Formats: sequence, structure tokens, C-alpha cells
Amino acid sequence: VRAAAVSSEVPDMNKRNIMNLILAGGAALPIGSLALGYGAFFVPPSAGGGGGGQAAKDALGNDIKVDSWLATHQKGDRSLSQGLKGDPTYLIVTNEGTIEKYGLNAVCTHLGCVVPWVAAENKFKCPCHGSQYNAEGKVVRGPAPLSLALAHCDVAESGLVTFSTWTETDFRTGLEPWWA
Ligand code: FES
Repeated sequence: VRAAAVSSEVPDMNKRNIMNLILAGGAALPIGSLALGYGAFFVPPSAGGGGGGQAAKDALGNDIKVDSWLATHQKGDRSLSQGLKGDPTYLIVTNEGTIEKYGLNAVCTHLGCVVPWVAAENKFKCPCHGSQYNAEGKVVRGPAPLSLALAHCDVAESGLVTFSTWTETDFRTGLEPWWA
């Protein structure tokens, strides 16, 4: 259909030129718009493990890619993903619009409820017994005894977002990690 339309518009062009025109112009848009999707689709799963991490997964169980996540999550966003061992883990978008270098395990350190992020108060607030954590997951009100567990969060070359175990000092408390 496209070839017929082109040839009627430019009747003097020979077949080869028409083909070039179609390839250069007509096909540019669909190829350009599909490239990202195909590129992401064909990334082998193992590519996500470049740094030894485990791919973060969205609510549907799909690997999270940095571009699509940042396109749909605003600066300062804290949304749940599936992290290490399948634990619900907050993926954080920094105020600069990048993926934060750490994720927060959403399991309350009191009795294990999943703690929601309350953006209006800039806190995580546990609905079960009222524990509160600041925006970095540091406990600021009990009965929770400990801060939310950290995980390293990295973006692999493939664009996959990965988590890995945080074994270093907890930068919020200066203490050794209680979860490692
Ligand atoms: Fe969160 Fe008790 S489980 S405060």
C-alpha cells in the first residue's frame, strides 16, 4: 500500500529510488519506535547479573528496566518492587531523577507488616502498630526496634535494575547491618 502511494506521488523515480525512499523515510518511524522494545526484549536474562545482582521485578513479575521505570515514576517516588528473596522492596527515584543506590525492604521490623510510603508526610508509616521510618527507612518511632533493611540497587549495562545484599555499615545508623 505504501509503495503504491509513493509511486503515484513520484512517478518519475525508478524502482530502486522508491525502495530507498521507503526504507529511509517510511520505515524510519516504526523502526525507531520499536527499537527500544525489541532491544529490551532480547536482552538475555543473564545480562542482568553483571554486578552479581538479582533483577528487581514489578508487580507482574517482569524485570524492571530503568528507562521505563523512570518514565512512569516521578522524582522522590518510592514504589514497591520484588527484591531479594521476593521481599517487597522500595525502589527509590532520587530528586535528580535517577534510581537511588539503595532500596528499602518494606517489611516492618516490628512484626512484619508491609509498611506503606506516605509521601505527604515524607515517611513510611506502619498501619499495624504505628511505627514510623523516615524517607531513608531509618526508624523514628517504635515499637519497631530497627530501621528498614537496605539492599544495594544498581542499574546494569542492559538497563535492568538489580538488587544485591547490603553487607556494609548502615549509613543511617553507623552500625553493622542487622539483616546481613
Ligand atoms: Fe509494623 Fe507492628 S508490624 S508496627
